[in-house]
Amino acid sequence: MKIIRTASYEEMSGRAAGILTAQVALKPNSVLGLATGSTPIGTYKQMIAAQKAGLVDFSAAVTVNLDEYAGLEPTHDQSYRWFMQQNLLNHINILPQNTHVPQGTAANLDEECARYEALIAGYGGIDMQLLGIGHNGHIGFNEPDDCFAPITHKVSLTQSTINANKRFFESADDVPRQALTMGIGTIMAAKKVLIIASGAEKADILSRAFCGPVTPQVPASILQFHPDVTLVADADALAGFPQ
Ligand code: GLP
Repeated sequence: MKIIRTASYEEMSGRAAGILTAQVALKPNSVLGLATGSTPIGTYKQMIAAQKAGLVDFSAAVTVNLDEYAGLEPTHDQSYRWFMQQNLLNHINILPQNTHVPQGTAANLDEECARYEALIAGYGGIDMQLLGIGHNGHIGFNEPDDCFAPITHKVSLTQSTINANKRFFESADDVPRQALTMGIGTIMAAKKVLIIASGAEKADILSRAFCGPVTPQVPASILQFHPDVTLVADADALAGFPQ
């Protein structure tokens, strides 16, 4: 694993955006796996700035998002489709039909998971997957479990994730209890993984994930077995790593 230690959130965002835009510059039809949460917002801002400056062209690129809440319409302001439109996709020259997020309002969620997994395979897999990390080590919505989920599937969110995400909703009761997420196997099949983290509140889980044992109780720990992972994190988030 490559570790890029930055002094600040802004620097983390710039480095991550540089890696993602370099991927698209080298392979214009790249399939980018994208993430939501507060951590990637700065990365997306820098990607937008790079495109506006003519440094990158997304017109042949494809995006596939990690996850989506079950039951939220794409127009719901807390849906991950809405998040992606507001924070990135509306502001770059990507073709709308080349952007994908699992459909949380599909009539049959299991069929939607199978469709999504097949869609990714149809593109030949993910070239670069961007990830944040939850406080309990979740990636996408793969929560701590007794085993690693292989493919896109429906999950029940843990209380820790509901508590962490309630800040975006009026109350904890409004946070959906279920979600659709790429599996750990889907993520591990990405050719490259880029994981970003910022702030002291992520220090404990980052060291458990990358300096501790590989276990499905810390889903991100499986990335220790991926052959091409880059972790870009600020010094506060890396406080538990050897200096
Ligand atoms: C959500 C998302 C994850 C994300 C995590 C961390 O639960 N499903 O993909 O990595 O939150 O979010 P944040 O970056 O806001 O800490």
